[in-house]
Amino acid sequence: MKNFVLIPLLFAVVTASFQAVAEAQIATLRKGTPLDQQQADPDQLQPYSDRDVKQPRAYPMQPPVIPHKIENYQVDLNVNKCLSCHARSRTEESQAPMVSVTHFMDRDGNFLADVSPRRYFCNQCHVPQIERKPLLENQFKDVKAVLNEAD
Ligand code: HEC
Ligand code: HEC
Repeated sequence: MKNFVLIPLLFAVVTASFQAVAEAQIATLRKGTPLDQQQADPDQLQPYSDRDVKQPRAYPMQPPVIPHKIENYQVDLNVNKCLSCHARSRTEESQAPMVSVTHFMDRDGNFLADVSPRRYFCNQCHVPQIERKPLLENQFKDVKAVLNEAD
């Protein structure tokens, strides 16, 4: 019995708040598109940057960003496409930089003969880039700039 009252009431409240949001022009993911309409795709998927130029690192232990495309590079139990170029034994042929020596260490700091399982899924840490203007200005300061300021 109570539901007869509650549900229409809830509906009225929700509708009213959507209207309020639309009127107040609050930034939402729908960007003011009416609820009964489909928003035009705001962002086409951008292709990954493929400049093949290594990017500077923002701090010493930063995982370098990937300067090439990685679409369809399979990394799973059976295959690691990244290692087909970046593994120690593959770099002569591929001319790719070898994975860092830290990638051979287990969690106790012992060096293994091959890449440690905890470094197997490369994209946990390394990411490709797209060429876009940042939405917000980045205020990150390189440690070198911080040191210069301190002088
Ligand atoms: C076909 C060979 C090839 C494959 C496959 C490949 N890479 Fe690369 N990678 C390179 C080469 C060559 C470079 C050197 C820069 C360039 O030419 O793009 C590079 C550069 C990089 C760098 C930059 C290193 C630095 O010091 O700045 C990272 C990180 C990287 N690759 C990660 C990956 C990951 C992660 C994958 C798998 C998703 C992968 N790569 C697959 C060849 C490859
Ligand atoms: C847990 C995070 C993590 C994972 C997983 C990981 N890396 Fe890295 N990688 C790093 C960090 C951090 C650095 C930079 C510091 C260092 O050398 O350890 C790095 C450095 C590198 C470099 C630059 C080496 C150099 O000497 O300039 C390459 C190439 C690279 N990684 C490739 C890979 C590939 C290929 C994989 C997958 C097989 C992988 N990484 C997995 C964190 C990771």
